[in-house]
Amino acid sequence: MQLKITIVAGDGIGPEVTREAVTILKAVAEMGGHSFEFNEQLIGGVAIKAHGTPLPSATLDAALASDAVLLGAVGGNELNSLPPSQRPEAGLLQLRQELGGFANLRPSIAYSALSNNSPLRAEVTEGADILFVRELLSGLYFGQPRSWNKDTGVALNTMYYTREEVLRVARVAFDLARKRRKKVTSVDKANVLEVSQLWRATVIEVASEYPDVTLEHQYVDACAMHLMNTPRNFDVVVPENLFGDILSDAAAVITGSLGMLPSGTIGGKVNLYEPVHGSAPDIAGTGKANPLGAILTAAMLLRHSAGLEQEALAVENAVNNVLSQGHRTVDIARSGAAGQASKQNVVTTQEMGKLVLSAVNEISNRKHTLHAV
Ligand code: IPM
Ligand code: MN
Repeated sequence: MQLKITIVAGDGIGPEVTREAVTILKAVAEMGGHSFEFNEQLIGGVAIKAHGTPLPSATLDAALASDAVLLGAVGGNELNSLPPSQRPEAGLLQLRQELGGFANLRPSIAYSALSNNSPLRAEVTEGADILFVRELLSGLYFGQPRSWNKDTGVALNTMYYTREEVLRVARVAFDLARKRRKKVTSVDKANVLEVSQLWRATVIEVASEYPDVTLEHQYVDACAMHLMNTPRNFDVVVPENLFGDILSDAAAVITGSLGMLPSGTIGGKVNLYEPVHGSAPDIAGTGKANPLGAILTAAMLLRHSAGLEQEALAVENAVNNVLSQGHRTVDIARSGAAGQASKQNVVTTQEMGKLVLSAVNEISNRKHTLHAV
């Protein structure tokens, strides 16, 4: 299998976590005799500094010419005073738009090894396995008009959706639910917003194509609460863009750390893979960043762009094994937890990457031995 991958590591901890993810991808390629070609490009604050724009044309051209794009993170404190259209984040939003992926898959899983990391009790989170399908190309993020008039003191954003935009993301949600526990929770604010009424009516329309899948509706405020109270009741959750942004961060509480969450965006010309966490400029370069979100993002790339399901599973199992052995980056270390302190081994970003790499190697060797028997 041949794959051209554009790497846009971006700002803050982006480069250090992406490096570990790329190492894993290279190892998987080598083991299976696949040819993965990597092309590194600039995005975000580093691109603004080098080229005066958060998405240089060389980056966009490379991304559009590749089979998949792997992104680290964008954003940094020193650029926070810029207007939205010139900030590092604008580069990411433009890249998302140009690549065309509208369905952003954000799994949120309760790892049993991390059950003590969540402020939620283990009996609440145990077994939770949620897949957010966040609409990524419309809604408040992209709706026009938008403005901030400093003279009048009035600012405006528009929550906008077309029926087509809801149909296509809802179909992705139902298709994925079919391969899982066959339940879709559609999130809206249909008691207040017309956009949400369109959203709900359209999701109901799509549901009639999937009689084997159960559909439920939740208002976004109630959904935020139910996610914390009864996370196991969710399977696939489909929210509009901003609701999905907020709920997927909230769901990090179920996993125990935002640093664990991967994402992959499908449905467009080129799939875009990015961990959910941000650039965390305060810990950049300190070795404290958790690379598991980026590594699990690489697993999603293997699954959705390379079609290498077994390899994706091997990476996910490797992460699980490393966690079960007690290895922790600081964000997931719980030195205070009773009975845990002694079993935990706090490691750096790079060390965590190496541990996952050897766990992947071990899983693959075991498979080969089994096949040889
Ligand atoms: C995310 C991030 C982005 C978003 C930012 C960096 C533009 O928070 O991927 O969740 O809001 O979509
Ligand atoms: Mn976010």
